[in-house]
Amino acid sequence: MSKRRPLILGNWKMNTLPEEGRLVARQMVPMIRDGLHWDLDWGLAVPFTHLGALRSELEGSGMMGAQDCSAHLQGAYTGEISAGSLAAMHCSFALVGHSERRLHHHESSSTCGLKIDRLREHGLMSVYCVGETLEQRQGGSFNEVITSQLMEALGSRIQDLNHGSLAIAYEPVWAIGTGLTASPQQANEVHAMIRAWVAQNGGANMAEQIRILYGGSVNASNAKELLACTDVDGALVGGASLKARDFADIVLSSVD
Ligand code: 13P
Repeated sequence: MSKRRPLILGNWKMNTLPEEGRLVARQMVPMIRDGLHWDLDWGLAVPFTHLGALRSELEGSGMMGAQDCSAHLQGAYTGEISAGSLAAMHCSFALVGHSERRLHHHESSSTCGLKIDRLREHGLMSVYCVGETLEQRQGGSFNEVITSQLMEALGSRIQDLNHGSLAIAYEPVWAIGTGLTASPQQANEVHAMIRAWVAQNGGANMAEQIRILYGGSVNASNAKELLACTDVDGALVGGASLKARDFADIVLSSVD
């Protein structure tokens, strides 16, 4: 079990209509609130269109977050959403560099660094996602891949960040939406490597405090074992976060 305060986040991706999302949150919040006897942080990264509807459902219980934000402050960037707008909508965090954005929108780690800057300027926590493909895992290059994702986005700015402005999510691409999960040993080994990188580049204090989440087919049956690992401080949950009971069980399993 990690000694840091657990952080369990759901990523709804492009699922549910705003009103459906509101109903899921309305079921989920009391399930978590009534079962929770320890301190932890939990939240949902929802589509931009849901932020207005979900604010009052999550208020005082879960954190509300977005799944991306613009690397720019403002201006002629059609379709983009600024970190300032996310702050105005009462988001407290945003995902940055999710593998689906890297794959479908050609997002680079250096662009992710700019997004992290924008979020920090507006007081939002970045949840920076890293992870290797199946080919990279099988070819044995996953440590280098993850190290370069960390270096390019965080290398020049980790000194300006702290555990309130940055969390890191390890999401092996081969485990996302596939039903395959990294074993607790595989996850813990990569988390320890990420923490060692943070220690080297951001100092021992930052490494002690930063929360590193695991994501990739986390569900109510495997969460407990993954969250029991010493370097796993929480989870980033996709599919199972759309079901109120399942997600509540995952959140609650981080503390029993
Ligand atoms: P699944 O939990 O559906 O595999 O998705 C993981 C993920 O991408 C969370 O960001």
